[in-house]
Amino acid sequence: MTIIKTIEKLKQTIRQTKGSIGFVPTMGALHEGHISLIKKARLENDVVVVSIFINPTQFLAGEDLDKYPKKQEADEKICEFSGVDILFTPNINTMYSQDEVLIKAPILKSYTLEGQRRPEHFDGVLRIVLKLFNLVQPTNAYFGKKDAQQLSLIKQMVDDLFLDVNIIECEIIRQKDGLALSSRNVYLDNKQRQLALNISLSLRIASDMVAKHNMDCEKIIEAMKKVMDSLDIEYIAIVDRKFEKLDFCELKNTIILVAVKIDKIRLIDNIWI
Ligand code: PAJ
Repeated sequence: MTIIKTIEKLKQTIRQTKGSIGFVPTMGALHEGHISLIKKARLENDVVVVSIFINPTQFLAGEDLDKYPKKQEADEKICEFSGVDILFTPNINTMYSQDEVLIKAPILKSYTLEGQRRPEHFDGVLRIVLKLFNLVQPTNAYFGKKDAQQLSLIKQMVDDLFLDVNIIECEIIRQKDGLALSSRNVYLDNKQRQLALNISLSLRIASDMVAKHNMDCEKIIEAMKKVMDSLDIEYIAIVDRKFEKLDFCELKNTIILVAVKIDKIRLIDNIWI
């Protein structure tokens, strides 16, 4: 595995690669969720590139940018064992300069749900992902359904800007008890973790209701709220794959999303139906 920190070296290395490039962008503190993306990329491509960059432009003032978990050594080992060819770990000055050309996420789709609580978050996500796509020039890029709105906006960016990359949607990886893996789970103590289990439980209850043909979104949301009554719910939303709000669930076209806060720890999860 080659570890690269500079644009020049990355460009030169990419120019020399042959065959398909599978790319997995991350912010590090790698866990089984990330690893599943890397393994899929390994299976489907000749060359696998992973980036680790804690992207400051997608954090709002007061968010956990400074505290975001950093595990450089462990991450390098994980990448090595998972068959990564190129690990790109730039620093902030490498990726950004002052007074740049900016990219703006679409207003209607990026200022709701995650974007309502975190305005301009998706501007920062699209900005860095576009830069990384331009550098890595991937054939296939891998993103988790865990960040469903991010995934949807990245797909829209690829369509709107006519980018030549396939976006591969990857399943959510969970712990045995249902908790979706997240780099932020390390913040949870035992009691908070126990409370967090109600998030995936509420999603399971929602999907059971749909399986029993209870498609009314209002009723589903009510049932989910009951399960999560001990949590500070930021939103529960039921949307179609294009992120339009639904009144009735549609099979194979529904995503049920949840965001909660447990003390100061913000967790998101969702289920695709
Ligand atoms: P990060 O949170 O590190 O996530 C990197 C990728 O891993 C994302 O595509 C995310 O959806 C996926 N992922 C995280 N947890 C997962 C899980 N439990 N199961 C499956 N996939 C999971 O998302 C980002 O970084 C950043 O916004 C980034 C796209 C790198 C831009 O900075």
